[in-house]
Amino acid sequence: MPHADLDALMGQRHSCRAFLPDPVPRPLIKQILSTAQKVPTWCNAQPWHATVTSGAETDRFRAALQQQAATGTPAPDLDWPTRYTGVYQDRRRDCGWKLYDAVGVQKGDCAGSARQMMENFALFGAPHCAIISSPADLGPYGAMDCGGFVAAFTIAAQSLGIATIPQAAVASHAPFLHDYFDIAPDRLILCAISFGYEDADHPANAFRTDRAALGEFVDWRGAD
Ligand SMILES: Cc1cc2nc3c(=O)[nH]c(=O)nc-3n(C[C@H](O)[C@H](O)[C@H](O)COP(=O)(O)O)c2cc1C
Repeated sequence: MPHADLDALMGQRHSCRAFLPDPVPRPLIKQILSTAQKVPTWCNAQPWHATVTSGAETDRFRAALQQQAATGTPAPDLDWPTRYTGVYQDRRRDCGWKLYDAVGVQKGDCAGSARQMMENFALFGAPHCAIISSPADLGPYGAMDCGGFVAAFTIAAQSLGIATIPQAAVASHAPFLHDYFDIAPDRLILCAISFGYEDADHPANAFRTDRAALGEFVDWRGAD
């Protein structure tokens, strides 16, 4: 595949925060999963497990998750970042403001930002959700391997015209997810990926995030 095609595909992908209700045919979901599983992993362990919902199962899960988020306390399996500082804080703020700006939430509108946050638990209206878990024994490298799988899932989906959003917010209710989907306690729930067809006219999908210049993250050693 020419690099330009891959780069264009990766440039088209973005996190989708409003989906159409139309289901994705099972053969296409299988194609996404079998492409995503081609990523490298330490010792070829392929540590991911995906619990994938469709149809009425997604709607049942969405309702239960919204109830959980409204009344329960977050308790992620994986430690959340302790703090964002410097450029990481700047980038976090930038993508947050872009989203709020797009959906018309003004600075200081706590109710509006909370409402938008709660859209996470409605899975942004997606017809499908994949819960991604990794064996606790494999530790951070298992999670790292699964991160590659999640990224490849989003790109494979994009190549088929299917929109995605990885969601740590969903994984923050890990005890509920273990219980609801009967995911073994020796697995860490890392994130969800909500997916489906994009509602391209929705304002939440109207903004794009930036990427840093190479000079901001590459330290060259030696001549080219
Ligand atoms: C592991 C992971 C967890 C994420 N969790 C959330 C989330 O809970 N809610 C959300 O709206 N976006 C979430 N995102 C999406 C990021 O905000 C998004 O990838 C980032 O801002 C870059 O934008 P882009 O995906 O449109 O390029 C997550 C992304 C990743 C990779």
